[in-house]
Amino acid sequence: MIGELHAALDASDERRVLVFRGTGDGFSAGRPHSSGGHPGGPEAARKALNDVVRMNVRVGRWKAPTVALVHGYAHPLPFTVIGELLGIRPADRPDLHAWFQVLLTGWAGEPPAEAVEASAKIVAYLRELVETKRRSPAEDLVSVLLAVGDDDALTTQELLSSLFQLVVAGHDTTASLIGNGVVALLDHPDQLRALLADPGRLPAAIDELIRFTAPVPHATFRMAAEPVALDGVQIPAHEQVLVCLAAANRDPARFPDPDVLDLGRGDGPNLGFGHGIHYCLGAPLARLEAQVAFETLLSRYPGLRLATERESLTWAHGDGLVLRGLTSLPVVLGPIGGRDNHIRSIVN
Ligand code: HEM
Repeated sequence: MIGELHAALDASDERRVLVFRGTGDGFSAGRPHSSGGHPGGPEAARKALNDVVRMNVRVGRWKAPTVALVHGYAHPLPFTVIGELLGIRPADRPDLHAWFQVLLTGWAGEPPAEAVEASAKIVAYLRELVETKRRSPAEDLVSVLLAVGDDDALTTQELLSSLFQLVVAGHDTTASLIGNGVVALLDHPDQLRALLADPGRLPAAIDELIRFTAPVPHATFRMAAEPVALDGVQIPAHEQVLVCLAAANRDPARFPDPDVLDLGRGDGPNLGFGHGIHYCLGAPLARLEAQVAFETLLSRYPGLRLATERESLTWAHGDGLVLRGLTSLPVVLGPIGGRDNHIRSIVN
């Protein structure tokens, strides 16, 4: 039913999406772009992930028994990867990340002055990034998007909004999956134990964590391109529609015992990455990042536990609609378990 709805809603914006997808293969199979370069390709992804793993080995050097897992780990990991793929200089990343954090901290009503300021800084930064890559193209996705032929070329506005979307979609979602996923595992010690005993279950476990913890609970806004009749409900043309992916992922007709976290569930795909033409461009990358993140963390710190009351955790990060993440996640790491070689084998 959701498929039907999406098909009816996805008619718009097709050109931009197709251009975008044509150049975005690096997020999936890594097919070289016809220009000959493949900056978003597997090499870049692998390099970025290797850098990130190196960075995360720092997790092992955390001296304090209590660490801020969302701020110190879940966010830096995907932000480094998306920064690498887009060719954002490492020195610029902390500021850029901080501006996005301001923007993604929920508020009610009119945006506060600091959000307006952060937004202006982000747009100015992306504009400058595009100009820099125009002058000196490099091995990155911005340069590839700029090299798209005349017929398909994106306007500057399209390019800027695509980059904005890529940075948000490329880090906040995966960061939420890592934070939400850690809490879900700590809430279900039996499931965590089974995963620690058999790390080969991790790829399937990640999909179940996406289904269960809903890092992206709703699809972005849609308008009905034409009247749609759905399960007895008439949706008029041009009506705004909000698709609740999280509800579909808890549909008992599709997932038996949907409110149970079962990392060994063999129920097939869920809608956590969306559906149809706007299906998540970064799904394969997100899965790989999550795999590295959980593997690194859990193999080093199998005794990880919350450093605060479970009830004090709040999911107030993000817009509360499309993005659902923890405000913070203080944890006690516990003793080092160590299985680094296995971690490296994932990315090498
Ligand atoms: C766990 C992590 C992630 C989740 C749960 C997730 C989820 C989603 C969902 C549900 C959509 C569809 C939204 C809609 O239909 O309106 C989407 C679209 C998108 N995602 Fe992701 N995403 C994740 C990670 C990523 C990453 C790492 C990237 C990029 C590197 C990315 C890039 C995108 C882009 C560009 C789109 C828009 C595609 C289009 O409009 O054609 N996502 N994502």
